[in-house]
Amino acid sequence: MKEVIIESKLHVYESLDELPEDVVSLMQKAFKARDNAYAPYSKFHVGAALLLDNDEIVTGNNQENASYPSGLCAERTAIYYAVSQYPNAKVLKMVISAGSKNKLTTTPIPPCGACRQAIAEYEIKQKEPIEIYFMGETGKVVKSHSLSNLLPLVFDKSVL
Ligand code: THU
Repeated sequence: MKEVIIESKLHVYESLDELPEDVVSLMQKAFKARDNAYAPYSKFHVGAALLLDNDEIVTGNNQENASYPSGLCAERTAIYYAVSQYPNAKVLKMVISAGSKNKLTTTPIPPCGACRQAIAEYEIKQKEPIEIYFMGETGKVVKSHSLSNLLPLVFDKSVL
């Protein structure tokens, strides 16, 4: 038996003010996408904005459904739209903002496990890291230099 330690390095910023202008501008687009989320059941609104290597910016938000499992998270809405419209582009950055309508969300909200798996698919396909930034409505912003850093032990096509 041997013990294996898995480490992830994240950068935590006190607020958006500490980030470069391009990331702030992308996050502002994520805020706007978050405002347009359709989340009448959870009241938890999430927005995501992606920067592609063709300079396109694609946004998405969570879409809920009366049949709850039919809903989709913001991150997958955004990345599926991006890769469906620009199949040859690489995704450079994904920024995410989430907030509840019931209280102010001040803690950084990371993408759920299912979204990490979906994003990992495209990071592996493009062979270049996708930078991820996530936050609540306000407060600290967390940066991960890649998706793989958020999903150790990924299940990928190499085992199929
Ligand atoms: N949600 C996202 O959009 N992204 C995540 O990574 C976590 C959860 C959405 C799904 C659902 O509409 C609401 O937040 C509450 O789970």
